[in-house]
Amino acid sequence: MTAPHAMVTTGHPLATEVGRKILAQGGNAIDAAVAVGFALTAVLPAAGNIGGGGFILYRDSGGGVNALDYREMAPGGASRNMYLDANGNPTDASLTGHLAAGVPGSVAGMYEAWKKYGHLPWKTLVAPAIALAEGHVLDEDRSREIAGDADRLERFPASRAQFLVAGAAPAAGTTFRQPDLARTLTLIADSGPDVFYKGRIADLIVAEMRRGHGLITKADLAAYRTFWRTPVRVSYRGYTVYSMPPASSGGVTMGEILNVLEGYDSLPPFGSAALMHLEAEAMRRAFEDRNHWLGDPDFVQMPLERLLSKSYAATLRAQIDPQRATPTPPFDAAAPGGNHTTHYSIVDAAGNAVAVTTTLNDSYGSAVTVTGAGFLLNDEMDDFAAAPGRPNLYGLVQGEANAIAPGKRMLSAMTPTIVLDPQGKLFLVLGAPGGPRIITAVFHVITNVIDHHMTLAQAVEAPRLHHQALPDTISLERGGWAPVVLDSVRAMGYGVSEGGYHALVMAIERDGTGWIGVADPRSGGNAAGY
Ligand code: DON
Repeated sequence: MTAPHAMVTTGHPLATEVGRKILAQGGNAIDAAVAVGFALTAVLPAAGNIGGGGFILYRDSGGGVNALDYREMAPGGASRNMYLDANGNPTDASLTGHLAAGVPGSVAGMYEAWKKYGHLPWKTLVAPAIALAEGHVLDEDRSREIAGDADRLERFPASRAQFLVAGAAPAAGTTFRQPDLARTLTLIADSGPDVFYKGRIADLIVAEMRRGHGLITKADLAAYRTFWRTPVRVSYRGYTVYSMPPASSGGVTMGEILNVLEGYDSLPPFGSAALMHLEAEAMRRAFEDRNHWLGDPDFVQMPLERLLSKSYAATLRAQIDPQRATPTPPFDAAAPGGNHTTHYSIVDAAGNAVAVTTTLNDSYGSAVTVTGAGFLLNDEMDDFAAAPGRPNLYGLVQGEANAIAPGKRMLSAMTPTIVLDPQGKLFLVLGAPGGPRIITAVFHVITNVIDHHMTLAQAVEAPRLHHQALPDTISLERGGWAPVVLDSVRAMGYGVSEGGYHALVMAIERDGTGWIGVADPRSGGNAAGY
C-alpha cells in the first residue's frame, strides 16, 4: 500500500481504518496510536488489550525520539517461587488463570502518550473502540482464533459469556457484541485512567482476583507507573536504528546482532548456508547475553553500554568459527507454543512516527475476563524466569536478572523500531508479535532492505530463521529454504527445526515524499493511508 501523506498498518483491518480516519481528521501519529490501541481491544481480543501492556517508540518530525514503557508489573504479593510445585517444577499457573496476571499497563500507557504528545481530545480517541465493542462483524480469522482457545476461555465464566456461544466460537459473519467492554471503555473515555487504577474498574479487577485467588490488589493498581526511557540507538552501515530499551530486551539483543554482522564488509547472499551460519552465530551470542544480563532496569544493573559497543561486537565476531557451529551448552527445552501479540506502525502527515507493540503474552492472556468489565487479563508473569535455568513458554532459558520480585517488570522481547537513513531522514517504522522471534524478525526486515536490497514487501515476506542460544537449534520457516542449504548447515554442526512462523511484521518505509505500508502476508492485518 502506498500513500502520499500518512500511513498506518495494524493487525486488523477495522483497527487500521480507525487509525486512518484519526489521521485524516487531523490527528497526529500518537492520536492514531491511542485510538488504534483501544480499537484492537475490541477487534483483536487475543492480543489487543487494556488488560496487558506494551511499549511505544516515538520519533517526532523534528528528530526527537522517546520510548514509553507501559509493561505490566508483578503484584506486591508475587514471590520468586510462586510458580513452582513442591518438587521445584514449574506449574502452568503462570499461563492460565488469575495468578498469571501482572498489573496491567495499557490504559496508563495510552493516557501518558496522549498527555505528552496527543492533539485531539481523549474522548475522540476512545470513541471508535466503544462503537466496535458495542458490535462489529466477526471475521473468519477471529472466529478461528477464538475456537483455538475455546478450552481455556471456557474455564472462566466471564470469558465464556463474552467469547463463546454454547461453548463454541461465534461463527464468522455474526455480530460480535461486548457490552461490558463498551461500558468499561466509556468509563475510561469519560474519566481517564483513574477509573481503571483507583475507581470502579479497579474494584472489579480486585473482585475478580478474589474469585480466582489472584494477587492484584487496589494498592498494586494505584502504584502502577509508566516510564519514559531513552531508546537504544545503534548505527548500522550508516543507518541509525532506534529501538526499545529494557524492560524490553528487543533493542539491545537486536543491536548486538546488527553490530556483529556490521563487521563483515558485505553479507553472503540471501538464502545461502554461509549467511545462515553468520546470522545464527550472531543471534546465539546476543541471546546468551540477553538471557544472562537483562531484566527490569529498576531491579538489575546491566552493562548496556558494553553490550552495545562495536568493540564488544568485535570480540563476539572473533569467536565465530567460519566453518562450524559453536554449541550452546545443551538443554532439553520445549518448543515455543502458540502465542499472540500485536504490533502497529504509524506515520502522520507531518512525519511523526510511532511503533507500538502490545500484548497479553499468550493468545487471550490468562483467559480470565474481569467479570462485569469485559476485558481479558494478561499472563505476562510467564515472561519472568519462573525457575531460572528452566525454559518458559517460548523455550527461553533465562537467569537471575529476570527472576520474579514484587513490583518488578518481566523482561520482554518486543522490539518497536524506527530506522533513519544515512541522511538522518525517517526510513523505516516496524515491529512484530512473536515472542523472542520478534527480535530476529525485525532484524531480518532491516537487513533484507539494507544488505539484500529487497523492497519492503519482499523483505517482510522473505523466509526467516531464528536462533535464541537455547534450545541450540536454528528454527527455520517451513518451506523457505533449499534442502541443500539445510544439509550444509547440518554438516557444520547445527540442529535444524522447521515450523510455522508467528512473527507478523507491520512496517512502513519512506517512498520518495510518501509512504509504503506493508502488513505481513502471514497475518490478517493490512495497511492504509491517505
Ligand atoms: O513481551 C514479550 O516478549 C512476550 N510477552 C511477547 C509475546 C508474543 O509476542 C506472543 N506473540 N505472538
